[in-house]
Amino acid sequence: MNEKNIESILKEQRSFLPAASFTKAARIKPDDLETLYKEAEADHKGFWAERARRGIQWDKPFSTVLDDSNAPNYAWFTDGELNVSKNCLDVHLDARGDKTAIIFEGEPGDRRTLSYAELTAEVCKFANALTAQGITAGDRVIIYMPMVPEAVIAMQACARIGAVHSVVFGGFSANALRDRIVDAGAKMLITADGGNRGGQIVELKQAADTALTNGCDTIETVIVLRRTAQDVAMHEGRDIWWHDAVDGQPDTCEPVPVNAEHPLFLLYTSGSTGKPKGVQHSSAGYLLHARLTSKWVFDLQDDDIFWCTADVGWVTGHTYVAYGPLAAGATIVMYEGAPVFPDGGRFWKICQELKVTVFYTAPTAIRALMKLGDELPLSYDLSSIRLLGSVGEPINPEAWIWYHEVIGKERCPIVDTWWQTETGGIMLTPLPGVTATKPGSCTRPLPGIVADIVDEEGNTVDSPDAGGYLVIRKPWPAMLRTIWGDNDRYIETYWEKFQNRFYVAGDSAHCDADGFFWIMGRIDDVVNVSGHRLGTMEVESALVAHKRVVEAAVVSRPHEIKGESIFAYVVFRGDRPVGDDEEALEKELRDWVGEQLGAIAKPDGIRFADNLPKTRSGKIMRRLLRAIARGEEITQDTSTLENEAILDQLRGKS
Ligand code: WT7
Repeated sequence: MNEKNIESILKEQRSFLPAASFTKAARIKPDDLETLYKEAEADHKGFWAERARRGIQWDKPFSTVLDDSNAPNYAWFTDGELNVSKNCLDVHLDARGDKTAIIFEGEPGDRRTLSYAELTAEVCKFANALTAQGITAGDRVIIYMPMVPEAVIAMQACARIGAVHSVVFGGFSANALRDRIVDAGAKMLITADGGNRGGQIVELKQAADTALTNGCDTIETVIVLRRTAQDVAMHEGRDIWWHDAVDGQPDTCEPVPVNAEHPLFLLYTSGSTGKPKGVQHSSAGYLLHARLTSKWVFDLQDDDIFWCTADVGWVTGHTYVAYGPLAAGATIVMYEGAPVFPDGGRFWKICQELKVTVFYTAPTAIRALMKLGDELPLSYDLSSIRLLGSVGEPINPEAWIWYHEVIGKERCPIVDTWWQTETGGIMLTPLPGVTATKPGSCTRPLPGIVADIVDEEGNTVDSPDAGGYLVIRKPWPAMLRTIWGDNDRYIETYWEKFQNRFYVAGDSAHCDADGFFWIMGRIDDVVNVSGHRLGTMEVESALVAHKRVVEAAVVSRPHEIKGESIFAYVVFRGDRPVGDDEEALEKELRDWVGEQLGAIAKPDGIRFADNLPKTRSGKIMRRLLRAIARGEEITQDTSTLENEAILDQLRGKS
């Protein structure tokens, strides 16, 4: 074993072929995929140019495909002009103006549907309102809203007039909001009087007001949507109700053509250190990838009802709620509230009642719902579902199998899609009518995406068990363009490690003998036990495969002899074990991991907890757990934690 590599010890052998009937009706069939791969391999730029010509309505066609003169600041379709909103809305009006674009369900149970024609009219009215408030192309607009249709309307309205939106997740605090407003230099904030989550009202306006007392001088106007009808303070001369802003505005609005590289949006993502990074995306390249992957990966057909459960505050809610499926002319579901309100059957109830056909969610949600048992999903009719998807974290084989059996009834392909805020859209994924999936693997890169795994020196790792850095070798249209206001950080974070030769995703991965990729976790989370570098994900998967374990997080601790040792946090099904029980179970789990993966991967210590610290997007905060395991002071901001109260228990104090 090469010192420079990360070792893979998880051996998952199961494989699942799509049903012949699925393949027969699928948009992409095995032969199509082979042809696409060949085309892309033969001519990378030509492949993307062809897709861009066919998939986008251009106001001015492009002649340059890729400009690499400022690499690694790549630019695509540089002399073309288009409007993203026109490509999501107007293009459908002749053929399917009456087709439902959005089915919305509020947490209290209220429902609303908007056809493409109605959605277009709403977007136009609001775009006119933005213009009336002095917003023009290039201005930054912050959107801090609940998961309601107006959030998508606001995003699309910005796109229609060339304004650059930056959505801030509604669960973020006033401080997080302020930092993003200041960094973006935003001129306007769009918010609501509140949103509904978990039976409570999320006080968006209050948080916005707090943020705005604190150095957000660039904000001139605040538009406030009435959602909960509770009383909120309105600031004379600054705040205006949404309904007043659109009142009397015409329901048509000429889409403003922008350059292909015009920024469509900024989306802030927290880095491992320092302030959040404003990931900047383009218009044409982003739209192209969003539309194409919506069609290919989710196989969207005319009668599909597509539900991506992500909030628009995350990139998944941008690409697979607000843009991709609309560009593909699909019907989408939007749900405002918590997955467990009023009980853990809410998702399944919505699937049943709205006849969802394609369902896309995160492993953290899958594990949380799995933990509640099979009775809830089994008590709903999920027969409309034909395709399932997963994104955001590696999905443990255990959760994958549950998703496959209990939700998909062993009938639905699962697409485990790997991508990032920075990549703009799905990069590595099965194609549902083609790929024989393996639980836990995101399988292969899409055609036109050149992924590889390299060692410390940047050389391809070709042994099937060895892991390394996941990199993308060639630029792709939806890639981030820069970090807003900090191009040095863009280069440092994603390119410098290997002298700007390829995009460094920051994940570790390995490739099996079939050429399938397995994500092993973030590079920063790798544990080095006696010179063996192990990804945290594999040990976690082994733990979760134990019948009583629901969730696990693995981190490293310094060790006198081994260099580092493995420390595991484990959430149990049922009550948290204490006393002797705890000791016995700890031993059982250590032996279990030893059997599954080998002695090298046995955790040195295990702590049982009722829950794990997670970001609002559901990612386990391993850095925080590492600090706790090492008895270090916690220096990072914990205010964006989903469940801050869990920290004491994790420290072993309760
Ligand atoms: C990171 C990106 C992509 C939208 C939501 C997250 C992890 C994402 C997978 C997957 C294993 C995954 C990676 C990646 N990740 N999808 N299918 N399998 N890991 O976007 O917040 O930018 O996070 O999420 O570590 O780098 P994000």
